[in-house]
Amino acid sequence: MKFFADTANLDEIRRVKSMGLLDGVTTNPSLVAKESMDFHKLIGEICELVQGPVSAEVTATEADKMLLQARELSSISEHVVVKLPTTTEGLKALVRCVDEGIKTNMTLVFQPIQALAVAKIGATYVSPFLGRLDDIGQEAMAMLTSIRTIYDNYDFDTQILAASLRHPLHIVQAAEIGADVATLPPAVFEKMLAHPLTDIGLERFLADWKKAQG
Ligand code: G3P
Repeated sequence: MKFFADTANLDEIRRVKSMGLLDGVTTNPSLVAKESMDFHKLIGEICELVQGPVSAEVTATEADKMLLQARELSSISEHVVVKLPTTTEGLKALVRCVDEGIKTNMTLVFQPIQALAVAKIGATYVSPFLGRLDDIGQEAMAMLTSIRTIYDNYDFDTQILAASLRHPLHIVQAAEIGADVATLPPAVFEKMLAHPLTDIGLERFLADWKKAQG
């Protein structure tokens, strides 16, 4: 399973990278809006740092305008993956991006049929938002299982990018189901490694070592 960092903050990306777990980055307009840097410049710097897939989202809502933004974004770096909303207009833009060889990440997916549609067209990634479904009391992991089954049934190449993950258990469940990628907020990277018995164990080892040294 690949791990992407779900952030547009360069310091956070550097921190995750230093942990050796960073395969890529996903951003969205809400995350980019928190940073005080020109959008295209920021995406360029993230690509430079990550040297792997970096999702940058269009903000237009009509297919023609989405395509123009997709072209601009993908010209920033070979690492850019253009995020498109999974709407009718988003699908029209996807068809044209696929024709032009622009890598895509179809976002805001909340039901398996949306994932089936974008895979048929040839999206590079599909992003089911698991945490947001959990938030409204719906079976998020059932959606992910269904998408995995559909993709395996038809040998679709689209990679499943489990998004909107809130905690380490989400990652484990997504890995068991077979998501190709998990995109995680930086805080979840830190939480992944935390276990009270690890801390207690280390404390005891070091205390015993110190005692033995006199
Ligand atoms: O990658 C999608 C993600 O940014 C959405 O996460 O936490 O806003 O639901 P969240």
